[in-house]
Amino acid sequence: MKVSAEILNLVPYKPGKPIAETQREFGLKEVHKLASNENPLGPSPKAIAAIQASLQQQHRYPDPSCYDLIQKISSKWNVPASQVGIGNGSNEIIDLLIRIFCEPGDSILTSQAAFVAYQVCAQAARVKVRMTPLRDDLTIDLKAIADDFFRNPTAKTRLIFIPNPNNPTGTIVGGAELSEFLVRLGNRDDVLLIFDEAYTEYVRDSHFKEAAKFYKEYSNVIVLKTFSKVYGLAGFRLGAMLCPEYVLELYNRVRNPFNVNDLAQVAGVAALDDEDYLKQSQKAVWDGLDYFYKELSRLNLKFWPSEANFVLFDTKRNAQEAFQNLLKKGIILRPVQNYGLQTQLRMTVGHADENKKAIAAIEKMLTEVPEVG
Ligand SMILES: Cc1ncc(COP(=O)(O)O)c(C=O)c1O
Repeated sequence: MKVSAEILNLVPYKPGKPIAETQREFGLKEVHKLASNENPLGPSPKAIAAIQASLQQQHRYPDPSCYDLIQKISSKWNVPASQVGIGNGSNEIIDLLIRIFCEPGDSILTSQAAFVAYQVCAQAARVKVRMTPLRDDLTIDLKAIADDFFRNPTAKTRLIFIPNPNNPTGTIVGGAELSEFLVRLGNRDDVLLIFDEAYTEYVRDSHFKEAAKFYKEYSNVIVLKTFSKVYGLAGFRLGAMLCPEYVLELYNRVRNPFNVNDLAQVAGVAALDDEDYLKQSQKAVWDGLDYFYKELSRLNLKFWPSEANFVLFDTKRNAQEAFQNLLKKGIILRPVQNYGLQTQLRMTVGHADENKKAIAAIEKMLTEVPEVG
């Protein structure tokens, strides 16, 4: 059977190494996973109670319109229900947007070291991926992205993905640069601007401008949200999209009618109502980041201040070797060589005691793995 070169060359998304696998491989009892930007608090207690109360209904198909969840999102996030789409994680929405708006041979445009799912989904759809260079401080260069769009009309760029904050760098874009980007590209009818806001609840920079607040002013701006991070529901697979009605109409045509299961919908509604949990989740991350910054500075390791729930830091070592060394100590971090970052690791904020153990393991690793020049 003939298979296209894009599929044959596709490097699949590599998720964080699972705890059970690490326990098996290294014969360890205690393993801490700070590798997948998950919420260390577990799901919201309100979500757990709502799921338990719904178990008896699971012989029924889920509501294909996600009515209750969309109504709840509409009231909590102050957006019209007619502009809310729901997906099996925001990853599914990324995948479907590419399939809806790009034909094989068209392009998506993003930055180097932007969240890798855009690339994987595009390649699977035989869509080309254009990437502009990162700035030296690892921020995304919005001007370079807009310039690339205008300079390369034959690339047929249909979608521009801006993860804000970005994973794995934790950096944000904003200010005059964002305004100019929107002046140049906003309201065009030949390209969609997709702001992936998986981590905005963790942003502490007071100047940050959320697309979820301004997307309505544009006919071509889409916002992606996830319930996997601050809402603590990664295992349920639940994501949302805020977008103009015409985009939603196409999305709802293409998606599987039962793409979001009932327990995910129920959990999402309950989590949106759990303000205490949300605040605790933010506080755990902010405290954890401040702790990491203090300790990484003490260890003389460069890090990039993060507006998300993880921090990228430079081990000054081959990151694979550092990663393997930490695995043996029961600490799973995330290598990011697939983003072109050879000596850095990404570390998610965990429980306070996990954060301490991670730092202790890193301190020991520094004495065991040689520095690279
Ligand atoms: C920037 C960004 N967007 C989207 C996602 C995917 O989230 P979901 O779990 O909703 O598919 C992630 C997950 O890590 C992410 O970092």
